Amino acid sequence: MKTLLQLNASLYGGDGQSSRLAARFVEGWLAANPGATLLRRDLAREPVPHLDAERFGAFLAGEDARDAEQEAVVAYSDRLIDELKRADVIVIGLPMYNFGVPSTLKAYFDHVARAGVTFRYTENGPLGLLTGKQAYVFAARGGRYAGTPSDTQTGYVRQFLRFLGIVDVEFVYAEGLAMGEAGKQAALARARLAVDGLLEQPALAA
Ligand SMILES: Cc1cc2nc3c(=O)[nH]c(=O)nc-3n(C[C@H](O)[C@H](O)[C@H](O)COP(=O)(O)O)c2cc1C
Repeated sequence: MKTLLQLNASLYGGDGQSSRLAARFVEGWLAANPGATLLRRDLAREPVPHLDAERFGAFLAGEDARDAEQEAVVAYSDRLIDELKRADVIVIGLPMYNFGVPSTLKAYFDHVARAGVTFRYTENGPLGLLTGKQAYVFAARGGRYAGTPSDTQTGYVRQFLRFLGIVDVEFVYAEGLAMGEAGKQAALARARLAVDGLLEQPALAA
């Protein structure tokens, strides 16, 4: 049975446009995969702490050398990673805030990039250890950036996921959401169509 992990990062929770597009996809995916397990994380409602020297020190400390506080930090990171490991499909609702990814998503990324656990370095460079997964990213933006050098999100998120071994990544964009009501509604309608297009892919239910 398959598992889908849904990560939302909108500060509006489920009401964010990125979350709504993600929810549309998840609903369709669950219909095509009856009995599948859904894991959800709302990174705005339940933020992952910022990585600091203490937390990173806990990641680096050997298993036998950790104190109780470090054990708790590692156990928390392990829980996040365990969800990722369990997931066959990862869905990310990705708002653009101040020209980048939400800091809540960055904090999450900082807790799931763990040397020896989700990636390791080899003579040929980094090797991602979370292979065989599909990711779908639903990006909502006030302006328009897709396909231009100002799109700071697409390359970054792709690179991060690839670093962990997740190379099969699809993006859907809803752009120009702050550029007038008519344009917003048209962009959302196009994005919903794109979501429905993804749901029609034969490989979706397997
Ligand atoms: C704090 C904040 C910062 C924003 N910064 C940007 C920005 O840099 N570029 C942009 O195109 N839109 C920006 N927007 C607009 C959001 O990208 C847009 O509202 C989008 O719908 C956010 O996704 P969400 O609805 O899922 O939260 C910003 C919105 C907020 C609330």
